[in-house]
Amino acid sequence: MSQTDIAKGSTMRVFITGASGHVGSALVPELLHNGHQVLGLARSDESAKRLTDWGAEAIRGDLHDLDRLRAAATAADGVVHLAFRHDAMAAGDLAGAAESDLAALQTIGDALAGTDKPLVSTSGTGMLAQIVRDRTATEDDFDPNGGYRVDAENYVIDLAAKSVRSSVVRLPQITHSRLDLHGFAPTLIGFARTNGFAAYVGDGTNRWPSVHTLDAARLYRLALESAPAGSRLHAVQDEGIEFRTIAEAIGRGLDLPARSVSADDAAQYLGFLSRFAGMNSPTSSARTSELLDWQPTHPNLLADLAEGFYFG
Ligand SMILES: NC(=O)c1ccc[n+]([C@@H]2O[C@H](COP(=O)([O-])OP(=O)(O)OC[C@H]3O[C@@H](n4cnc5c(N)ncnc54)[C@H](OP(=O)(O)O)[C@@H]3O)[C@@H](O)[C@H]2O)c1
Repeated sequence: MSQTDIAKGSTMRVFITGASGHVGSALVPELLHNGHQVLGLARSDESAKRLTDWGAEAIRGDLHDLDRLRAAATAADGVVHLAFRHDAMAAGDLAGAAESDLAALQTIGDALAGTDKPLVSTSGTGMLAQIVRDRTATEDDFDPNGGYRVDAENYVIDLAAKSVRSSVVRLPQITHSRLDLHGFAPTLIGFARTNGFAAYVGDGTNRWPSVHTLDAARLYRLALESAPAGSRLHAVQDEGIEFRTIAEAIGRGLDLPARSVSADDAAQYLGFLSRFAGMNSPTSSARTSELLDWQPTHPNLLADLAEGFYFG
């Protein structure tokens, strides 16, 4: 398909890494329902079957199969990168996971350079907490000094200078819905069950942004179809809910109390999430909404927690 056709809003053949995951499970149907074709990278028979059951095509391969990534990206009209080695991260190898992420993106970026095709990659709003203090973060904020995942975000934005219509969707700490089986919301619920109370750190007034998975998926589609090259986009519905309020909602769902823990004790009650639990990262999506006419329409985090399905 020519770039002129794509620019006119024609449907695309889209290559997606991580298509079988949480966000992918909303994005693949979102793209198919809007007339696009989807080819998803699948590292197992089970993941490949998920994709074909949804009506997408699957190509078997791992993030490390750079030749396969290059070939699939070259043949596609656009690429969405969602895959991340969360298994390596959970095992303590964040550096290795971030390295694989950057290598995959560099391969895809090389394949798309000079084509003006879209590449939509993924980052997180959480990293903004390290560079923005005492105010709400916006799409203009970024860390020029780099770091894990920051290097990948900055690399993708810089691809705009190489004639790639690149953009990055920053997902909030909690992306929630019935599709969310192992994100931070179910993880917090698991810790609360184990502890017998829902923990928050200190006075719990630090704020976390959030979004519904289906709204996030729509933003990825809009970015793919029309985000200007070099856009940082925020998939944020609630700018920031106090962590104590989230803990109290989890407590209500489990019929358990919410209780403060000190920063020193957080790891005992919140495991690897203790690194994030005290984070204050209110984040605006005003620029994103204006740029792509994106308005969240699905229930917010507290409504989803009140619905009860997270506690079944
Ligand atoms: N969900 C959130 O709340 C949130 C918040 C901030 C940022 N993010 C980021 O958003 C992106 C998507 O998140 P998600 O929640 O959809 O994650 P997820 O449910 O864990 O899905 C991860 C996807 O990556 C694939 N994958 C993992 N390792 C791979 C490898 N070595 N080779 C090929 N594929 C591999 C998985 O394949 P399998 O199906 O085979 O396992 C799955 O399709 C990630 O970059 C994540 O870090 C998510």
